[in-house]
Amino acid sequence: MTAQKKNTVSKAPEQGPAYSSSAAYPQTRLRRLRSSAWIRDMVTENRLCASDLIWPLFIIEGDNTAQAITTMPGVERLTIDRAVKAAQDAAALGIPAIALFPATPGEKKTPGGEESYNPFNLICRAVQAIKKQCPDIGIITDVALDPYTDHGHDGLLEDGKILNDPTVEILCKQALNQARAGADIIAPSDMMDGRIGAIRTALDAEGFQDVAIMSYAAKYASCFYGPFRYAVGSSGALKGDKKTYQMNPANSDEALREVALDLNEGADMVMVKPGLPYLDIIWRVKSTFSAPTFAYQVSGEFAMLKAAADKGAFDYNTALIESLLAFKRAGCDGILTYGALDAARWLKQQKSA
Ligand code: PBG
Repeated sequence: MTAQKKNTVSKAPEQGPAYSSSAAYPQTRLRRLRSSAWIRDMVTENRLCASDLIWPLFIIEGDNTAQAITTMPGVERLTIDRAVKAAQDAAALGIPAIALFPATPGEKKTPGGEESYNPFNLICRAVQAIKKQCPDIGIITDVALDPYTDHGHDGLLEDGKILNDPTVEILCKQALNQARAGADIIAPSDMMDGRIGAIRTALDAEGFQDVAIMSYAAKYASCFYGPFRYAVGSSGALKGDKKTYQMNPANSDEALREVALDLNEGADMVMVKPGLPYLDIIWRVKSTFSAPTFAYQVSGEFAMLKAAADKGAFDYNTALIESLLAFKRAGCDGILTYGALDAARWLKQQKSA
């Protein structure tokens, strides 16, 4: 685990493994290449490094406070001043970017989610503070209404239906305020149709051509988001489910259609979410489009790892690194993971060991 080199996927998905059908035991002994640490290192196909990792952070109002999240042991909600320190720690370890999510105070949640485009909301203030005090880390902001609506949905709700186009108008306002605050990458996680094109047009019209878009392109209606919803305080309120906008876990071709649309609308990077249960989707997306492809190892996945490690089933760091390597094998260019800091620390230790 020493190398800095990033794996490129050009050698991976489309071409199958180079093997000859005549290769056979006893001439061929695959254990030869596993016989010592140096040779295993020499033939390693995929490597994880800190630059593969994106660290999601939950932000709360207040000063100098870190709040434990019971469903995600080891993860905390941070006040902006603490988030600045966290960003500095991440940057020092070589993590290229953080992704910010607000735990909006309950009294600011409304049916229309107006707080989402308040230019002084928690996220805009966090972006400004982090940009000022930690200018070298990339800041990714989430575009969706669920942390701001009292019903917990990512869009506007009318007579039990999520309204697509009126929601997209609000998402554009939200994205613009995040860009004005200094966000580097806008990441729409709402799954409304047409939002990538609309946000790109809105950003460009205000001169934000250099602000990138990372689209949550293939986002499934997953139970693995449970701990996240608890962390941002949207779970208690959530009426119904998100199946009219997030994807059916049974589908795979549909993910390619989603990704194709988002890339055509101007997404710079695409994301598959959740992560480990959807490695096949990552593989298909990367091999079909060759676009920068990210995965989100979501809150429920992280909670499972932590819970098993806490029960003594395995070592947390070893399991975390193995799970992150799986994403690299599947073709990911990077992974959003709550374990980013832990993984980066582990990688640094290995290098200096
Ligand atoms: C909401 C959003 C969710 C996550 C990221 N953005 C939850 C949801 O769609 O309900 C989940 C992340 C995680 O579980 O770690 N727009």
